[in-house]
Formats: sequence, structure tokens, C-alpha cells
Amino acid sequence: MEVLNTPNEIKFHSGKVPALGLGTYELLNTECIDAVVHALDCGYRHIDTARFYENEIAVGNGLKSSNIPREKIFLTTKIWHTDLDKKSMTLAIEDSLKKLQVDYVDLLLIHWPSTNDDVTYKAVEFLEELRHKEYCKFIGASNFNITLLKKSLTLAPLVCNQIEYHPYLSQQKMLEFLHENQLFLTAYCPLAQGAILQDPLIKEIARSHDRSANQIVLRWFIQQDGVSVIPKASKASHRISNFDIWDFELHADEMYAIFELDKQKRLIDPTWSVDWSN
Ligand SMILES: NC(=O)c1ccc[n+]([C@@H]2O[C@H](COP(=O)([O-])OP(=O)(O)OC[C@H]3O[C@@H](n4cnc5c(N)ncnc54)[C@H](OP(=O)(O)O)[C@@H]3O)[C@@H](O)[C@H]2O)c1
Repeated sequence: MEVLNTPNEIKFHSGKVPALGLGTYELLNTECIDAVVHALDCGYRHIDTARFYENEIAVGNGLKSSNIPREKIFLTTKIWHTDLDKKSMTLAIEDSLKKLQVDYVDLLLIHWPSTNDDVTYKAVEFLEELRHKEYCKFIGASNFNITLLKKSLTLAPLVCNQIEYHPYLSQQKMLEFLHENQLFLTAYCPLAQGAILQDPLIKEIARSHDRSANQIVLRWFIQQDGVSVIPKASKASHRISNFDIWDFELHADEMYAIFELDKQKRLIDPTWSVDWSN
């Protein structure tokens, strides 16, 4: 088979990020440590965690047990939406660094905006102060709508928005906005928590490429500009399969057909969520 050498890296306005990372929500303790070590062994260089996941110590232990140098790994953590005052944000990142056993994270995100927009904007400004203190290399948003992002970008140099994105939930408007501003999108729940793997079209495309359904979906993501993707996999075989997507390519008509699967199916919609029509 022809090897396409698709780079596992995407560029944004001030840096680059590995396109495929490991999501770690619900991975805890030894299972989480083993998953991080194994993922790094497989070639993953992007690990996504959050204070909310209560696994930063395990992620840190995994990073420490691996022989991959810290500077080769893109590490993201997130501050919870009820901790968006200056004091709580400082305590949060200092505690995250201690738990992760690192001097800095690559990307620090606001996990969800506050339900009070003023609080969100002040927190965005303060993220930049935390970056100046070298707690993180880059700062970004998660679960921001376009209205919040637009104003936030006048306040601080955010580099990404991490949001739910999979073939059943189109993000075309958000992607256009992010492209215009040279930000990247990190797709969470990229496999629609497994549901997309049963889709007849995905299965048919998988058969025609002699690949598995997860590989078709992940390939669809990395063939889009400015999109990184962080599937979570607790099974080692899943992590291996998810990372084995660099040597084949989806045709334009297959990409298009997968885009057509959109049905605005949102899996994560907590009470504090934003108005996604803005
Ligand atoms: N910013 C936010 O608000 C936010 C919200 C949600 C998620 N996230 C991040 O995004 C990450 C991914 O989202 P997610 O965990 O909700 O959903 P997901 O990645 O779409 O799906 C995870 C599910 O897919 C299964 N899976 C993975 N690879 C597979 C494969 N090759 N074959 C078959 N099944 C496979 C996993 O099974 P096994 O575990 O059994 O391997 C798991 O049940 C999270 O872990 C977290 O880091 C962020």
C-alpha cells in the first residue's frame, strides 16, 4: 500500500499540535497510567486531560513512566467553569502542574464558559496572564460558541476551541470561523462515544478500504484542515487501531458522504451549556 506520510501535526497561528491525541475522560488510576504509557509507545504525542476527570496524577505518572521526553509531548488540561475567578484559576493550574508532575502544560483550556459572560471574558484575559507566567505554552477555549469566541479573541490569543464534533454533529460554521482566525478545532466525542461505528455508510466505506470503522472516522477528521481529534480508548487494541491511519486516504466523494451524515445529534449538553445557535 502506498504510504502517504500524512503528517500527524497541524499548524495554528502560533504553533502546531499533533492531529491525533488520546482522550482520557473516565480513565482512572492504573488503567489511566497504562493507557498513557501504551499510547506514547504507539506513537501518540498528544494527551488530553482535565481537572474534572480527576486523573491528572495518573496521567502524570504515565508521562513519567514513559521514556518519551516531556518536550515531545503535547499535554492539555482544563480549568472547570466554577473556578473562573483569578484566585481559583491560579490555584487550579498550580495544582494541575503538581499532579501532572510537569513544569508547564502545552495547552490550558477553559473547560466550559461561565453562565455569566463577564466572568468568562475576565477569565480569558487572566488565561493570558497565566501563559505569561509560563504555566502553559498556549491557551484556548472549550465549549465556546462563536459569539463568545469572537469577543474572547479581542482579549487574548486563544489557539483553539475544543468541542463535540463527529459525523452526526456538523461544525461547519465553527470551522469557518476558526479557519478565518487560524485557530484549530479539537474534536471531542469523535466516535460519538462508539455510536458512529455502527453506521452503515461508515461500515461500507470501511469494507471498501479493508479498514475498520473507527479508522475511517478518524481518517475523515485528519483529512480536514485545522482539526485535531482525541478519541478515548481504554482497550489497548483500540488505541493501536486508532493510531494506524496514516497510510490510506479517503476519496473526496467519501469525505463528502460522511459530511452528509450530519443530524445535529449532540451527546454532551449539560445545564450550564451555551446557546449553540450563536
Ligand atoms: N471538553 C469537553 O467538554 C469534553 C467532553 C467530552 C469529552 N472530552 C474529551 O474527548 C475525549 C473523547 O471523547 P469520549 O471519550 O466522550 O468519546 P469517544 O472518544 O467518541 O468514544 C469513546 C468510546 O469509543 C470506544 N472506542 C475507542 N476506540 C475504539 C475502537 N478502535 N473500536 C471500537 N470502539 C472504540 C471506547 O471504547 P474503550 O474505552 O472500551 O476502548 C469508548 O467506549 C474524552 O476522553 C475527553 O478527553 C472533552
